[in-house]
Amino acid sequence: MSSEAPLSKVIVALDCNNENDALEIANLLDPKLCNLKIGLELFISCGPSIIKKIHNLNYKIFLDLKLNDISNTVLKSINTIGKLGIWMTNIHSSGGKKMMLNAQEELRKVQKDCLLLGVTILTSLNDKDLKEIGFQNNVNNQVLRMASLCHQSKLNGIVCSANEAKVIKENLPSEFICVCPGIRALGDDIDDQSRVMTPMLAAKNGADYIVVGRPITRSRDPKNTLTIFKKEFEENMR
Ligand code: C5P
Repeated sequence: MSSEAPLSKVIVALDCNNENDALEIANLLDPKLCNLKIGLELFISCGPSIIKKIHNLNYKIFLDLKLNDISNTVLKSINTIGKLGIWMTNIHSSGGKKMMLNAQEELRKVQKDCLLLGVTILTSLNDKDLKEIGFQNNVNNQVLRMASLCHQSKLNGIVCSANEAKVIKENLPSEFICVCPGIRALGDDIDDQSRVMTPMLAAKNGADYIVVGRPITRSRDPKNTLTIFKKEFEENMR
């Protein structure tokens, strides 16, 4: 894998369902300017071969499968994922401390520099949704609670909305990574996201990486839009 340029703080979500579209977007972008996120839709459609093809283009990959199952099943899946040579992956913190500790221990055995993140509360959910599910806490309190559990479980960080990054950075060590989706430029369509933030505010709140999908992949000039998001975020990072 690649370049002397410092690792980009922007992760572009390849949310598509076939290899051609994924490779087309990857070829329009640049591994010196971003890392790529492969999520459930693409991974289920193409299988592990898509990882190899994206690696061949020199990108670092965040494999966003949000694993959530009993500890033994997650551990075995993480063992397989670790062998793919990816940069970052994630599991659901609602799987509990034992599941997270076991997954991290297993990943360290297979690929020690792969980052393991916990998913807290999806950025598509708001306070009302949490109440409906049966959580007593509001989003902020619930995210902090789940983030602390991830930290105690030795995960490298969490996926959270940039709205929550501030409180996470105030309460947990600075090296505990906040990867923040739900990023929009001023005036962008928010699509199905509930809790969105601009790259500048995300940076000021302490986000370490931003995940951007549709605003970049659906723009007329994805590389130019990526450059704008990257500049705004990286120039304002703490
Ligand atoms: O298109 P958009 O910028 O909304 O894409 C956000 C990406 O981040 C999607 O791939 C979505 O699955 C992912 N994500 C999220 N919220 C989380 C975790 C992941 O939006 N909590």
